[in-house]
Amino acid sequence: MRDVVVIGAGMTKFGELWGKSIRDIFTEAAQKAIEDAGVDHIDSMYVGAMSPGLFVGQEHLSAVLADYLGVNPIPATHVESACASGGVAFRQAFLEVASGASDIVLAGGVEKMTDGADVTEVLATAADQEYEVYQGITFPGLYAMIAHAHMHQYGTTREQLAAVAVKNHRNGAKNPNAQFRSEVTLEQVINSTMVADPLRLLDCSPVSDGGAAVILASIEVAKKLNKNPIRVIASSQASDTIALHGRSSITTLGSVVTAAEKAYRMADVKPADVDFAEVHDCFTIAEILVSEDLGFFEKGKGGQAAADGLTSLECNLTPINTSGGLKSKGHPVGATGIAQIIELYEQLSGKAGARQVLDAHIGMAQNMGGSGASCVIHILEGK
Ligand code: COA
Repeated sequence: MRDVVVIGAGMTKFGELWGKSIRDIFTEAAQKAIEDAGVDHIDSMYVGAMSPGLFVGQEHLSAVLADYLGVNPIPATHVESACASGGVAFRQAFLEVASGASDIVLAGGVEKMTDGADVTEVLATAADQEYEVYQGITFPGLYAMIAHAHMHQYGTTREQLAAVAVKNHRNGAKNPNAQFRSEVTLEQVINSTMVADPLRLLDCSPVSDGGAAVILASIEVAKKLNKNPIRVIASSQASDTIALHGRSSITTLGSVVTAAEKAYRMADVKPADVDFAEVHDCFTIAEILVSEDLGFFEKGKGGQAAADGLTSLECNLTPINTSGGLKSKGHPVGATGIAQIIELYEQLSGKAGARQVLDAHIGMAQNMGGSGASCVIHILEGK
């Protein structure tokens, strides 16, 4: 496989973008990425989006977006893997450049969730319809069951869950593209409106619109453009049962464990070598689980680590979700996986401003679909 690098990135602000359609949002992000990369063409593009058909009534999304972006007749492919759609789109673009089939590929993600669809119902299409959704369960409900099990098994506390939200809002306040740029206190999280016990409003990622795009290229192209190369040193993906009841344990995300093992092997690094990570904190409990399943902390100790500040930007041990994460930056589901890559790109290029991780050399992005039935992990390396 050839070396692959990220040479440009662009995203919209995340939030309620009522004045913009899905094509406006994607095009804004894609044009910014193309401009940032300084390329005069792309060979191919992949777009992650979970459910444009149900959210805004638009299928055949890749054709719409390629047309509007003005890049016809290049191949344009829509990728769907629920909330992991963006990460999987990035992986497809990586594989296309790594294989030698193309030299310059755009990987993007977009979602327009606030146009009136029943968001909870649309998101629930990513769970097991027959065994979960028909029984009335939603994603906040599924993660609430996971949270209860983790609290019961490991003694994880309500305060530890809240510590994740406090940290991510603190980071998001430093991110100009974040949906919520306000800090919250432990008390505010614990006293916010109940959504699905024990998860409250401030334990949840929000409903968001947004788009994100990056340009991947061969190392030769990067050299010609005189770009500081941010190398993709691992790309891995794994799957697990769609329904929680099929798992031997619901406090371990099997797809995350498997994808992480593959990614560490491919990059030849250990968890301790990762300087910072963007992880899929769709709910506060998800960040705790993932921080354990990626090997950053012993199983059951993720909550304590968050409460002790070990994942904070200020501590600089393994900062997690310096962008504000899904919790504060926002979660336009198809765009999330690409926005994580953009945070890695900015950190590794030394362009993260007030969020800059000191001595950032290796960053990891972990993106997952639903309650972890799909997971995709990338590791990027800067100079
Ligand atoms: N975090 C922080 N603030 C939030 C928020 C969140 N997740 N969601 C909404 N808010 C704020 C809104 O900005 C609004 O503030 P305002 O009154 O100052 O304007 C207020 O809370 C009420 O917003 P509203 O849109 O009425 O909330 P809601 O009750 O319709 O939705 C949730 C709240 C938590 C149910 C919704 O955000 C949700 O479903 N999140 C989970 C999304 C999800 O499952 N994603 C996939 C994961 S697998």
